[in-house]
Amino acid sequence: MTKNFLQPILFDPNHQRPLMIRGMVLLFLSCLTLIAFCAGSGVSSSARGALMVKKETFGTTPDGKTVELYTLTNTYGIETRIMTYGGIIVSLQTPDKKGHFADITLGFDTLAGYLAKNPYFGALVGRYGNRIGNAKFTLDGKEYTLAKNNGPNALHGGLKGFDKVLWQAQSFQKSAEVGLILKYTSADGEEGYPGTLRVTVTYTLNDKNEFSIDYQATTDKATPINLTNHTYFNLAGEGSGSILGEELMLNADRFTPVDATLIPTGKIASVKGTPLDFTKPTAIGARINDKFEQLVLGNGYDHNFVINRQSPGLALAARVYDPTSGRVLEVDTTEPGVQFYTGNFLDGTPGKHEHIYKARDAFCLETQHYPDSPNKPNFPSTILRPGKTYHSTTVWRFSTR
Ligand code: GLA
Repeated sequence: MTKNFLQPILFDPNHQRPLMIRGMVLLFLSCLTLIAFCAGSGVSSSARGALMVKKETFGTTPDGKTVELYTLTNTYGIETRIMTYGGIIVSLQTPDKKGHFADITLGFDTLAGYLAKNPYFGALVGRYGNRIGNAKFTLDGKEYTLAKNNGPNALHGGLKGFDKVLWQAQSFQKSAEVGLILKYTSADGEEGYPGTLRVTVTYTLNDKNEFSIDYQATTDKATPINLTNHTYFNLAGEGSGSILGEELMLNADRFTPVDATLIPTGKIASVKGTPLDFTKPTAIGARINDKFEQLVLGNGYDHNFVINRQSPGLALAARVYDPTSGRVLEVDTTEPGVQFYTGNFLDGTPGKHEHIYKARDAFCLETQHYPDSPNKPNFPSTILRPGKTYHSTTVWRFSTR
């Protein structure tokens, strides 16, 4: 006789107690199966949480200003912490394929770490992200001189760029997203740039596991502008070692070759047949030590790629997959370029949890206009004029495979 686990007991009135016990065992087994399924599918058991914004104090700047820390959480448990100093993304927790969360961004545990020496971990970068050659440019016939903070060049907005200023913050919560609006007014002449620039950056975390960064700005005098975010990712988790095994796809057939000081030569070159060809997913480390001139000059990857696009608007710039954790990061942007940087200047300085961050322990995908555009008339313009609004959007999408 074939044994049916349920039938004989359910219909036998003399077996009340075994019926209850078997029912409870069944319920217990079903729960175990559900938990195992959720873990296997990369869905966290905490997947049914609530959208949340939390505000607390992170520390005080040397001149006595309070730095606030906002925590945004979505219903799948993805959580990011952002502080008002530098608009810095302090942490970003996402699940791996088994549902285990890890912080996939490099940084420091305390404000003091960021104040001491921060290689732009998580920071908003401006007024001009990336380099301006010889730290000068001419606009409408007038020459402007900037601080040389990177060899002969100006880098990432100057000595006190947007990564080192306090932003005014206002959080928001809607039915399927939470976010933070950050505002900063950069005075006319700040860091050598013309015009009062009013900047608004909106960070939004939604229930589609997307984190978006929306930049807007207006000015009262013509000025160059190139805003980006400098988050250092390691999809296996910060502090877990090198990212050389993570696989990158860049939606870019071309890049802007650089000279020895990492200023674009002005040419736009094809990646075809070079170690800069990531049009098909390739391990970041597969060719990084090739004796290819551009890699030698960059000490690894530190190049602006020209994103393939058919029309304006959001386009896929990059996809990174970490085979060990199964985490996938996709980057969409409205920008024409993306700086792919393999953390070549990380020097072993300890970060979160005393983790030592060495060269190539993280990658950055800095969506932006091309470096040195104010001195390169053939590159898309980075000049914002009065009466116009600068607008740029980048979306990071998280999933597992
Ligand atoms: C950008 C630059 C790099 C380096 C980092 C910050 O990615 O292209 O050369 O300056 O910022 O360390």
